[in-house]
Amino acid sequence: MTQKNKAMQNMERILNFSAGPSALPLEVLERAKEEMLSFNGIGASVMEISHRSKTFLQVLEKAKGGIREIMNVPDDYEVLFLSGGASLQFAMVPMNFLRKKAYYVVTGAWSLKAMKEAEKIKESHCGNSKPEVLKAYSSEPDFSVIPLPTEIQFDEGCDYVHYCSNETIDGVEFDYDLNADKTPVVCDASSCIMSKRIDVSKYSMIYAGAQKNLGPSGITVVIVKKEFLELCNPKLPTLLSYRSFAENNSMPNTPNTWGIYLIGLVCDWIREKGGLEVIGRINAEKARLIYEEIDRSDGFYRGRAKPEARSRMNVTFTLPSKELEEKFCTEAKKLGMDGLKGHRSVGGIRVSLYNAITLEAVARLVEFMRDFRVKNHKP
Ligand SMILES: Cc1ncc(COP(=O)(O)O)c(C=O)c1O
Repeated sequence: MTQKNKAMQNMERILNFSAGPSALPLEVLERAKEEMLSFNGIGASVMEISHRSKTFLQVLEKAKGGIREIMNVPDDYEVLFLSGGASLQFAMVPMNFLRKKAYYVVTGAWSLKAMKEAEKIKESHCGNSKPEVLKAYSSEPDFSVIPLPTEIQFDEGCDYVHYCSNETIDGVEFDYDLNADKTPVVCDASSCIMSKRIDVSKYSMIYAGAQKNLGPSGITVVIVKKEFLELCNPKLPTLLSYRSFAENNSMPNTPNTWGIYLIGLVCDWIREKGGLEVIGRINAEKARLIYEEIDRSDGFYRGRAKPEARSRMNVTFTLPSKELEEKFCTEAKKLGMDGLKGHRSVGGIRVSLYNAITLEAVARLVEFMRDFRVKNHKP
């Protein structure tokens, strides 16, 4: 090993508040490191074996089973692994399910993107009548609120209603499961999946890019009701069809084996922590500590989201000037805290508090925020 490599190995890990890809639990990384060269004593890494091998099939079942157990996924749902990120789901959902009319709840940059992709799919429809893609609600341009259930308007006979349960860029989060008795609900839960208990039975489909709470980037989890799968457009190419993923155990082609393996390890970790009730309570407490500091800062830190819409996963706020925001990030970095810069489209600061972020890490950040305010606040 070179001197440089040795030095890097000894480096202390940072407190990583990045929005995604983001921090993974240390225990998971350590286990992956232990098993890197020889998984289960087979003399090869999990990345180096056939996805059709018995060993890998066990890895796949473990990850699927972990998600089922932790999220209480009912038996009439499939758990699938896809690639292409959550962004591919923005296109696959309308490709598979848009026939006449779909509605989008637009509460932030990601749900707006999902709707725009659906509009493109609509435009590419070859039939005589183009389907409709409509807004069920919009909080543009501020994206600082979450609608009450009664404010979301859609036609009950439509193909589906889509929403994003946590807007990673804007920092707003639904604190309820959107319930539509007679209409399939499709949810982008990329940045809050497994951060608290949700009622899966209320959804026809939940999807999430793994790179926040579940594992590495490049793999997406799709939880879909079998009844809804029946409605898939049967004429799609294999890799764009949910049905082909369901019929081929998520492997119509070579999957991201490493990603699936890590999701299995993250599931072990969540179970060891006590499951979603415990994880949910810790996450609520982490967010409470940061928002409390924002609220007592006399306007020095200004939250983007209205208090009742605040996200527990992505806390977004601004400081009195861009210079102070830069100084905030630079000084935090010197103290080992990184990933705090807001998304490039909105600026400001964003603190992401996914499952792997500990209460201790948050307490250190809050202490820094307090010190920074005392030194820089000029009322
Ligand atoms: C809520 C949400 N949806 C979708 C995406 C897009 O994910 P990907 O980059 O995996 O396509 C992101 C990415 O951060 C996200 O936060």
